[in-house]
Amino acid sequence: MLPFDAHPVLAEAVEVHRELTRTRRVARSSDSPRAALAADAQRALAARLAALHADPETGEILDRALTERAALLRAAVEAWRITLAQRELREQAAAVATDAAREHRSLIQAEELLIGNLRAQADRFGERRSALLAERVDTEATRDDLLAALGALRVREARTQLRRGLLLTGQMRDIIAEALPALTRGEPLLLLGETGGAKTALAEYLSRVMLGREPELVSGYGDITSSQLIGSHELRSDQGATVSVFVAGPLLRAMTEGRPVILDEVNAMPAEFLKRLNRILQLRPGDRFAVQENSGIAITIEPGFAILATANEQTPHRYRGIDRMSAELVNRFGANSYRVHYPDAGLSYADVPRENALLAAASIADAAGAVPLSTDELERVARAAFISQQVFAGSHGEGFNTFVSTEREIDGRPGLEESVLAPRTLVAIVQKVAGSGGQVSLDHALRRFVDGVMHAEDRQVLALILRSQGFLAG
Ligand SMILES: Nc1ncnc2c1ncn2[C@@H]1O[C@H](COP(=O)(O)OP(=O)(O)OP(=O)(O)O)[C@@H](O)[C@H]1O
Ligand SMILES: [Mg+2]
Repeated sequence: MLPFDAHPVLAEAVEVHRELTRTRRVARSSDSPRAALAADAQRALAARLAALHADPETGEILDRALTERAALLRAAVEAWRITLAQRELREQAAAVATDAAREHRSLIQAEELLIGNLRAQADRFGERRSALLAERVDTEATRDDLLAALGALRVREARTQLRRGLLLTGQMRDIIAEALPALTRGEPLLLLGETGGAKTALAEYLSRVMLGREPELVSGYGDITSSQLIGSHELRSDQGATVSVFVAGPLLRAMTEGRPVILDEVNAMPAEFLKRLNRILQLRPGDRFAVQENSGIAITIEPGFAILATANEQTPHRYRGIDRMSAELVNRFGANSYRVHYPDAGLSYADVPRENALLAAASIADAAGAVPLSTDELERVARAAFISQQVFAGSHGEGFNTFVSTEREIDGRPGLEESVLAPRTLVAIVQKVAGSGGQVSLDHALRRFVDGVMHAEDRQVLALILRSQGFLAG
């Protein structure tokens, strides 16, 4: 098959078509001052495309290429469907095990057999996909086209997930599957991890999407007190008289309305509250809770209530890290505490950081899965982010050592102290570039980011990392 830009006519048709799609969007947007201009341009582009098709010579080349392209896309969609079906089977297998765990028992033989069957079926799907792709790929160019088409489908899926609040990486799927049974029973959950790794996003996703309830959200920063969290008496005027009424805080509201409550950055909450939290964490739906703040009047905790706490391992204010939390408190979460690692954790320096790259791509992709940055740029910025995350998280394995400054090893804290290209930062930077309409280059946005880093040594290490990926040259 002809690669799509192998023939000048094809290259032109692709370019005209691309421009036409973009122009059409501007022409349709009633609030663009350039809509009329775009409408004229749209007509001209459409006429050019029609002329290319109408000419017998170029028309034939185009028709053949389009037919081949359609076949290729069909193959990509088919391969993607197989991928989804395979994933579904693996999830079903995992659910059998989770259900047994939820019932506090080991698997019966019939279940073990079922799991084996589901996994074998999933493996067969994998073989089918490989066969399908092998059959379709006759040249290197077809392979690249097919992979690009599959890539766009994957980015589209990731974009949909991200719009619902969370990219469902393997790690996130695992935590969700494991945590959900306990959460449904009203047991508390703790998410521990480095800054910007989507702990809060995961807690919100668990509440909204998995439990189906809007959570109460309480942030640990700011000097929040027990009475703000639980409730307090306020003075109100009632028919000319001033009366004192009890107003429930978010924690109490979640209890009585049967909703999840997210205690965000619980490690930063005041010690006085954390002491009380020890006891509150033992409460389950159906239990009674005597509200000290309201003269000890007891309420009943409704089903649907659950505490989801997040804690920061290394914050920009490290002294407020998790060491503030007592072992006793962490123990209360029992088996329900999870470490949220940065994406691609465990990969080596030389691997392609696929999850970081997918996150970056999905955050700027359009509905068709097209991404306004080149694959090369995406991969380089994703790798820079990945390296900074590993160094920040204290992974100084092979390859990462290059970025760990030896002077700082003297005080025992090599690497990055305060700043990191966390997933959240990566998303913000590529969105800034994509949203600038070509005004801000990726290199420029990264330069700004580094300039804004307060900590001088961090600034140096980040610049070193970015330079290793071809940014900040000159
Ligand atoms: N699976 C994922 N892995 C990593 N990042 C993700 C994932 N899904 C979404 N994100 C991104 O994570 C960001 C949200 O991060 P969030 O604020 O939840 O992090 P956090 O761990 O709570 O950080 P902090 O500790 O600073 O509060 C968003 O920018 C979102 O795009
Ligand atoms: Mg957070």
